[in-house]
Amino acid sequence: MESKVILKAEHITKQFPGVKALSDVSLEVREHEVLALLGENGAGKSTLIKILAGVQPPNSGDIYVDGEKVRFPTPVAAQNAGIAVVYQELANVSELTVAENLFIKGYGQKNHTLNWKQIYAEAEKIVAEVDLKIDVHKQMGLCTVAEKQQIEIARALYENARVLILDEPTSALNDKEIHQLLENIKKLKSRGVGIVLITHKMDEIFAVSDRVTILRDGVSVAQKEIQDITEQELIRLMVGREIKDMYPDKNNHPGEVLLKVNNLHNRHVHDVSFELKKGEILGVYGLMGSGHLELGKTLFGCYPATRGDVVLNGRKVRMSCPKQCLKDGFAFVPSERKAEGLVQIQSIWENIMTAYYENGKNGWLVKRKKESGIVEKWIQSLSVKTPGPYAAAATLSGGNQQKVVLAKWLEISPEIIIMNEPTRGIDVGSKSEIYKLLNELCGQGVSIIMITSEMPELLAMSDHVIVMHEHRVQAAFSKDQLTETNIMTAAIGG
Ligand SMILES: Nc1ncnc2c1ncn2[C@@H]1O[C@H](COP(=O)(O)OP(=O)(O)OP(=O)(O)O)[C@@H](O)[C@H]1O
Ligand SMILES: [Mg+2]
Repeated sequence: MESKVILKAEHITKQFPGVKALSDVSLEVREHEVLALLGENGAGKSTLIKILAGVQPPNSGDIYVDGEKVRFPTPVAAQNAGIAVVYQELANVSELTVAENLFIKGYGQKNHTLNWKQIYAEAEKIVAEVDLKIDVHKQMGLCTVAEKQQIEIARALYENARVLILDEPTSALNDKEIHQLLENIKKLKSRGVGIVLITHKMDEIFAVSDRVTILRDGVSVAQKEIQDITEQELIRLMVGREIKDMYPDKNNHPGEVLLKVNNLHNRHVHDVSFELKKGEILGVYGLMGSGHLELGKTLFGCYPATRGDVVLNGRKVRMSCPKQCLKDGFAFVPSERKAEGLVQIQSIWENIMTAYYENGKNGWLVKRKKESGIVEKWIQSLSVKTPGPYAAAATLSGGNQQKVVLAKWLEISPEIIIMNEPTRGIDVGSKSEIYKLLNELCGQGVSIIMITSEMPELLAMSDHVIVMHEHRVQAAFSKDQLTETNIMTAAIGG
């Protein structure tokens, strides 16, 4: 028996200046169902859900809830109709506590006074619903991405959402956290909630979804039951071509030791040591709070080291600040593209060129013609979907923003690239292009420190791996020891 349709969108069209984000797209969300909404970077997924959530109006098209035509002039109108969204770029109030964020829409304010004891007690019950163990007095800004996401889901539940839309909820989570999230999705589904899941990860699609809707260039190209589609078909529908090999044949020949890190120590990382050869990829893995992402920041001088030393090409380097690290030949792709990676109001052009003059290798005179060539080259080679180089970074889709961050750092031809979650939010087609590019860079002698939560990319791309646990290096593995079991065992402290 087919479940009841809760939410329906018909013939939705949305035009931005220079970009038709959606044309004539329809979609149905049913009770007790997980619908995967899929497509390449820039296909229109986030735009569609923003329309369903009353964040943006469509140019044309209709929305129905329980068969009745509705209009959502504001996000609150959509929330009141039972539609909750956890956005790609999380938006909660960092300065407030977890409990305050949970009740952000208000709390039964009788007599104009708040019973804080009661509020915190209730907040505890709400987070327990999603099996989240957290102190609800904690400031939101101090929570990890995974925690913030669970809190938003808990809030949606508390507000009795009937449709829960998750825009790439797992892109910043590691395997354990993803497992937890998928469990929560199943639980919500069993309660009757209709779930829309946007993700670029194939295994998740097949693990939890019942149906898929695929968008390509703003057009809906397929709607299928999950059992009627294979992974290869899905990829072909999304990117319009076959991808035979996701990962390139690694043909790099690591050279001499380039970087030696000895007992590097600060608040975030404790006595970390490793070696990196010329032209190789060192993979770094860790679970939430292990210090793996902070290691990247420490190596780029964002967090000063209090002890230990770093020797590059036989010469001690100080890593006193990012600017110095840039001069020394390091580049750093941060994990939080919104806060750390891009200047949102600046153009793609300006964003790509920001690091270019900083390391002193490229002179100081701005050469517009040369810049134009550089910017066009990256837009082409990473297939950044945009009307042109002058578009503001803020107008790009999530995955396309990530491509601009990568371009900015790759252009300065660093000796060592430190990458925190390099392919976060990037679609399968572009991912395989990026892996090819990383392989080529290694071939040219560039060394890469790839800090990632994505197990498949860690296993396929790394020449060797260190695993962090409780701020220390728990284990190091050479290429022939790389297995998921070895890595997970070390990551949980074994
Ligand atoms: N506010 C805006 N102004 C101009 N163009 C926009 C705006 N928002 C989105 N776009 C454009 O609309 C298209 C669809 O973007 P959208 O964010 O919906 O993609 P997506 O499918 O979510 O991609 P991703 O997987 O990268 O998140 C893109 O070309 C994007 O640049
Ligand atoms: Mg998106």
